[in-house]
Amino acid sequence: MIFYFGVLLLILNYFSLSLSNSLTTDESSLIAFKNYTNNSTSLHNWSTQAPICRWIGVSCGAKHRCVTSLSLPGLSLQGTIAPHLGNLTFLRVLNIPSNNFTGVLPSELSKLRRLEYINVGTNNLTGEIPTWLGGLLELRRMYLHSNRFSGGIPSSLFINNSRLEVLDLENNQLIRGLIPNAMFNVSSLLSINLARNKLSGNLPINMCSNTPQLRNFSVGGNQLSGDIPKNIAQCRELEILELQANYFNGDIPTEIGFLSKLKYLLLWQNEFKGSIPGQIIGNLTSLIWLNLQSNNFTGSIPKQGWNLPSLTFLALDSNNLTGTIPEEFGNLASLNNLILSSNKLTAWCKSLDWQNTTRAFSFAIP
Ligand SMILES: *[C@@H]1O[C@H](CO)[C@@H](O)[C@H](O)[C@H]1NC(C)=O
Ligand SMILES: *[C@@H]1O[C@H](CO)[C@@H](O)[C@H](O)[C@H]1NC(C)=O
Ligand SMILES: *[C@@H]1O[C@H](CO)[C@@H](O)[C@H](O)[C@H]1NC(C)=O
Ligand SMILES: *[C@@H]1O[C@H](CO)[C@@H](O)[C@H](O)[C@H]1NC(C)=O
Ligand SMILES: *[C@@H]1O[C@H](CO)[C@@H](O)[C@H](O)[C@H]1NC(C)=O
Ligand SMILES: *[C@@H]1O[C@H](CO)[C@@H](O)[C@H](O)[C@H]1NC(C)=O
Ligand SMILES: *[C@@H]1O[C@H](CO)[C@@H](O)[C@H](O)[C@H]1NC(C)=O
Ligand SMILES: *[C@@H]1O[C@H](CO)[C@@H](O)[C@H](O)[C@H]1NC(C)=O
Ligand SMILES: *[C@@H]1O[C@H](CO)[C@@H](O)[C@H](O)[C@H]1NC(C)=O
Ligand SMILES: *[C@@H]1O[C@H](CO)[C@@H](O)[C@H](O)[C@H]1NC(C)=O
Ligand SMILES: *[C@@H]1O[C@H](CO)[C@@H](O)[C@H](O)[C@H]1NC(C)=O
Ligand SMILES: *[C@@H]1O[C@H](CO)[C@@H](O)[C@H](O)[C@H]1NC(C)=O
Repeated sequence: MIFYFGVLLLILNYFSLSLSNSLTTDESSLIAFKNYTNNSTSLHNWSTQAPICRWIGVSCGAKHRCVTSLSLPGLSLQGTIAPHLGNLTFLRVLNIPSNNFTGVLPSELSKLRRLEYINVGTNNLTGEIPTWLGGLLELRRMYLHSNRFSGGIPSSLFINNSRLEVLDLENNQLIRGLIPNAMFNVSSLLSINLARNKLSGNLPINMCSNTPQLRNFSVGGNQLSGDIPKNIAQCRELEILELQANYFNGDIPTEIGFLSKLKYLLLWQNEFKGSIPGQIIGNLTSLIWLNLQSNNFTGSIPKQGWNLPSLTFLALDSNNLTGTIPEEFGNLASLNNLILSSNKLTAWCKSLDWQNTTRAFSFAIP
């Protein structure tokens, strides 16, 4: 009995020792983090008098009392990200967007094996997108948008990670090169946002073969070219397709007509040609926003396809459209923005209710 009790004491002792050790590591990591941020007043209650789990932005595990989440969005923090954060062994959430961090993402963060969520968006981070992010196998959501990351998108992000759901690299105007094919093999992806970079090349012809859950594909504002792959039909869950402000060309493939959940279709400022595909559009019954402006569409606007109950925005301006404005536009019950200017359209349709003040159309006379 005494023996057992002794063993128990030993075990308890060991536990409390290792616990207080890990607390000390966590605490010193956070103190270093604060030190690297020029001692912002936002972290005023990060005082060694209080337990770290009560410091602003810090959350701990219920049992082990180690830091599991560091969430400090929009606090005007300046400075660099301390490499000591890599010592927060139990960290699952690192959420520090909309501050003013500079420098690189320190490679010590590659030790955060449990990390599921990283958001460092809207800071001033530089350097290349670290390849070691691909080694964080629990990572589901990765937000690196609106920084000054440069170089290419490394394939290694996608080789071993089978859990990634969100990839947001928008507005790092220095990211250039091709979109790695490996990205399209991550079947867990729900959202890909690569908008406003300097990416070039084509979309892979089998882009949707392995991403059946994809809801958002946004690559607007790059230097991409080529056709929209017919294989897009396999992205059946797609709600947002933003290809605007690139050099895409060719006809709009009829396969887009299978995307019955599509809400936002933004193809403006490309080099698409052919006629406006009425049959295809008519199938997109969830559509809210359709922007085809500044392309090279020709022919007349089709009469069919305008039974879209949710469509609020329709822009067909700055193309080479001819003929009349179809009466069927009157069926668009939710429409409040219709832009048709800079075409070669000839006549108005009399039955259209242009005067209805509850529907503030904004359009220029062609
Ligand atoms: C704070 O950071 C500076 C360098 O930026 C370093 O010299 C100093 O030792 C750090 N202090 C603590 C308490 O970590
Ligand atoms: C933050 O404050 C500590 C103590 O006042 C000081 O030692 C350290 O140099 C400061 N760090 C920076 C980056 O200004
Ligand atoms: C620090 O501030 C946060 C948010 O205001 C508060 O929830 C927390 O209790 C404070 N911690 C201490 C030790 O005062
Ligand atoms: C941090 O504070 C130091 C000393 O006041 C200053 O020299 C340095 O430029 C500051 N760094 C940033 C990133 O604001
Ligand atoms: C934490 O990490 C820093 C830098 O990565 C390292 O120098 C330090 O020894 C580590 N501290 C502890 C207590 O493990
Ligand atoms: C990034 O730095 C530039 C120039 O130093 C500054 O104008 C800009 O506001 C900074 N961005 C953020 C998000 O703090
Ligand atoms: C971000 O920090 C840079 C210098 O480090 C400074 O010039 C800039 O004004 C800061 N931006 C904001 C929004 O605080
Ligand atoms: C993927 O995992 C394998 C096995 O652990 C490893 O050998 C390889 O280096 C990893 N590749 C990347 C790109 O992380
Ligand atoms: C419209 O959708 C239906 C059902 O998904 C499909 O059978 C049909 O081929 C589609 N038509 C066009 C023109 O895309
Ligand atoms: C539109 O098509 C015409 C005729 O094929 C061509 O001359 C013109 O360059 C094209 N314009 C654009 C913006 O692609
Ligand atoms: C319209 O077509 C003419 C001739 O076919 C071409 O020169 C012009 O560039 C086209 N305009 C647009 C906006 O594509
Ligand atoms: C104006 O449009 C609304 C919404 O579509 C409709 O309910 C209303 O009857 C219209 N008013 C007139 C005067 O046509």
